[in-house]
Amino acid sequence: MSPNRLNRRFALVRRPEGMPVAADFQLLEEPLPPLADGQFLLRNHYASLDPAMRGWMDDRPSYVPPIQLGDPVRALTVGMVVESRNPDYPVGQWACGMNAIEDYSLGGPGRFTNCVDPDAVLSVTNYLSAVGTVGFTAYFALLEGGEPKAGETVLVTGAAGAVGSLVGQIAKMKGCRTIGIAGGPAKCDRLLRDYGYDAAIDYRGKSPEELTEAIRAAAPDGVDVHFENVGGEILDAGLLALNQRARVVICGLISQYNSDPYPTRNLWQLIVKGARMQGFILTHYVPRIGEAIPVLADWVKQGKLRVDEHIEEGIENALPAFLRLFDGTNQGKMILKIA
Ligand SMILES: NC(=O)c1ccc[n+]([C@@H]2O[C@H](COP(=O)([O-])OP(=O)(O)OC[C@H]3O[C@@H](n4cnc5c(N)ncnc54)[C@H](OP(=O)(O)O)[C@@H]3O)[C@@H](O)[C@H]2O)c1
Repeated sequence: MSPNRLNRRFALVRRPEGMPVAADFQLLEEPLPPLADGQFLLRNHYASLDPAMRGWMDDRPSYVPPIQLGDPVRALTVGMVVESRNPDYPVGQWACGMNAIEDYSLGGPGRFTNCVDPDAVLSVTNYLSAVGTVGFTAYFALLEGGEPKAGETVLVTGAAGAVGSLVGQIAKMKGCRTIGIAGGPAKCDRLLRDYGYDAAIDYRGKSPEELTEAIRAAAPDGVDVHFENVGGEILDAGLLALNQRARVVICGLISQYNSDPYPTRNLWQLIVKGARMQGFILTHYVPRIGEAIPVLADWVKQGKLRVDEHIEEGIENALPAFLRLFDGTNQGKMILKIA
């Protein structure tokens, strides 16, 4: 290994209060350690930027440990092996794993890295989108959490986003009627045009009452599966449209990742509708990801599943790119090009 090679790492140096700001991070440059037996060095080409990272920056118990101050921000990356002391990961092999926003990541024992085949997808970045965590989430959370049946109505919030756009399309494949909620007329156009939603609702500028009205108008027969990515008033409005025995999948609550929790008012609807509300966390499905990969890759390759990726360039742009997830200016799966 070149002793002079430096690794740029986008590190968390202070815990954000509310929306993250530049002073919470620092771009470190560190020398790379020599490889031990079994290890390999991955040159990260792309890093996935996910809303969940905001939670990992807080010092509180969650489904993964908090990012330690001084450590690079944890991220799923895809890259190419450039040095190796592990025969299963030869130089030139593409691989994807839970690493960090950094130029190079060490792979090997105790690290979660999978070899990937760029020819099985349209672009290697698909391993961070439709054939990555958001794809697996859409697939398992909808099909197992929501249990959609043909003819049912599925309401999706955050519907134009990475998870939401896939959920809508998979629900359509299962024969459901789909209603998407997103921010702004341009995103609502994309719901109808690009993701096959049957109806689109722009939540921006609507009071909770107006939102409830809009959902009831779009779903006159009620909602059987409510797929929640956003939370707050949008979830509350959706609860009022549930059908008997509806399933509410709590996949994400992005509206509250930088603020205090919203006091949900309409949970009583779960009682009177005999409805089920269930949280979803992808980590429970890691042993089953092998089931989803070929299905999702096949759908993408055959053009049955449209995947939009928003790629921003440069590790120095990690923060502004990440913040797009919270102001809604991302147009698809948010990805950072590092190499
Ligand atoms: N449970 C799991 O295992 C799991 C795994 C992956 C993702 N998720 C969750 O899935 C959700 C979507 O993630 P993603 O990666 O697909 O992101 P995304 O939807 O591509 O991007 C985030 C979108 O959220 C919307 N948003 C942000 N702040 C909002 C607010 N205050 N009110 C309403 N909408 C807001 C914006 O869309 P608009 O322009 O439409 O407002 C933004 O474009 C997140 O909640 C995430 O945490 C969960």
